[in-house]
Amino acid sequence: MERESRVLMGTYKRYPIVAERGEGCRLWDVDGRAYLDFLGGLAVDVLGHAPRVLAEAVARQAAQLVQTSNLLYTCPQIELAEFLVERSPFDRVFFCNSGAEANEAALKLARKWGKAERGGAYRVIAAENSFHGRTLGTVAATWNPAYRSPFEPLEGVDFVPFDDIDAMADAVGDETAAVILEPVQAEGGLFPASDRYLPDVRQLCNEKNLVLIFDEVQTGIGRTGTLWAHTQWGIEPDVMTLAKGLAGGFPIGAALATDRLAVFTPGDHASTFGGNPLACAAGLAVQEEIERLNLVDHVAAVGRYFVERLEDLRARQPLIKEVRGRGLLIGVELTEEVARDVLDDLRDRGLIANALTPRTLRFIPPLIVSQEEIDEAIDILDASLTARA
Ligand SMILES: Cc1ncc(COP(=O)(O)O)c(C=O)c1O
Repeated sequence: MERESRVLMGTYKRYPIVAERGEGCRLWDVDGRAYLDFLGGLAVDVLGHAPRVLAEAVARQAAQLVQTSNLLYTCPQIELAEFLVERSPFDRVFFCNSGAEANEAALKLARKWGKAERGGAYRVIAAENSFHGRTLGTVAATWNPAYRSPFEPLEGVDFVPFDDIDAMADAVGDETAAVILEPVQAEGGLFPASDRYLPDVRQLCNEKNLVLIFDEVQTGIGRTGTLWAHTQWGIEPDVMTLAKGLAGGFPIGAALATDRLAVFTPGDHASTFGGNPLACAAGLAVQEEIERLNLVDHVAAVGRYFVERLEDLRARQPLIKEVRGRGLLIGVELTEEVARDVLDDLRDRGLIANALTPRTLRFIPPLIVSQEEIDEAIDILDASLTARA
């Protein structure tokens, strides 16, 4: 930890854990201490730690071909794109390496489309409490003032309150090209959109001829109990972005679009590493395993169980104010600003999670988490809150 502080930029407030290895939902530090991991690499480790299918796919592909650049065709990229297109309402995929890059691609699609189809429109409407990434383009669409202010001026985005269709309708102007939303706001505090909101936004975008982008970087890949979160609202966006769970921990991102919005032509956008054979072989192996294990239905079932157990706890623990979320994307709102203290104590008791706000705990375990592991986490949380009371 001391060596880290001398050579790395101080971008992270890390937990005092030096992680060494993992298996399933367990993580061990360099001193051999075990933790139950309900952080899951920040909603990335969908198959848990060290899944055999991922290790084997990466090893096999690494021994065959790692990187060629996109000047050549490579089969894993085409196969993963086919897999995603067959299971979604989208026609085409652009691969990159992270969630922020996926959103950058989506925003560039919207701008190019707006220039050609909406008289030069380029502005984007985003929601308060949104999180879309840390690049200059995506931090401009991210609400948290602490993330934005050191880098302002940031241009081209208009913010509206989340879940308020009238505010959004009022914000649409001649220069508006697109709307970007998370179906369940995650980093901003864990707020699922209401049942009416996303269908109303879809209708508004149709009426005003705007591009609708759903950022499913965190909610996609089964996290909320359906493969894509947006299907729970019965509507389809024009563009969807993915990253986190797509390759189970191997860096990858993707922007998916319908033919109408897939307006990039050669030279418009590119990535040296994007869609390289290693990342796409990893992605395909992880997606096939999610399907083989029927993990999306498992998430819906254990997610419901987790929320029921948390609601039981809420009835007994006055520090818990509210339980929110979908599937295995769960927030626990506390009555006091003690989330950090609670997390420190949970960690001492062997459970890792994180906090979204000073009052909000978030639990995003691997999608393979079992009912027994959820019981174990609940017991640790119960003991911790009882000790504080
Ligand atoms: C909804 C959403 N969009 C974008 C991002 C940014 O992804 P990345 O950190 O891979 O750039 C995140 C990361 O937490 C996210 O939750």
